[in-house]
Amino acid sequence: MEQTFVMVKPDGVQRNLIGEIVSRFEQKGYQLIGAKFMQISEPLAKTHYAEHQGKPFFDNLVSFITSGPVFAMVWQGKDVIQVSRAIIGKTNPTEATPGTIRGDYGIVTHKNIIHGSDSEESAKREIELFFQQDELVSYAKDV
Ligand code: CMP
Repeated sequence: MEQTFVMVKPDGVQRNLIGEIVSRFEQKGYQLIGAKFMQISEPLAKTHYAEHQGKPFFDNLVSFITSGPVFAMVWQGKDVIQVSRAIIGKTNPTEATPGTIRGDYGIVTHKNIIHGSDSEESAKREIELFFQQDELVSYAKDV
């Protein structure tokens, strides 16, 4: 089953949006298989955002993502990588469609509420970066 990494960023946590965001993924039909309320260290932030190293916003990105607690999650289900990007909306919240998380709650790119993996490769990398295999649960077939 496909898995993806989703994280409520410090602005989303401070605005009490964890429940709303979890609810949107649950209502769509996805399963939460891992969750961690944590503060990201500077080395972890730099590794997570390595592809943006050298860009003008990199230092601000690292200081923002380490500025307060985040809620890191792994979600599972059919086409969850692509569909979660649609649930989340465009990176720049002013371009994100209303009805998406960023479209409903964000205004600026550097405080865009939530992160979601953008490909199979980044989902695998980000899940392994934030979670040990034994921190991910499996569901019983019949509940
Ligand atoms: P995210 O999906 O977490 O992935 C990389 C992040 O970099 C992105 O969300 C934005 O928060 C941030 N970002 C991308 N482009 C810019 C930009 N031009 N200025 C500031 N932050 C940016």
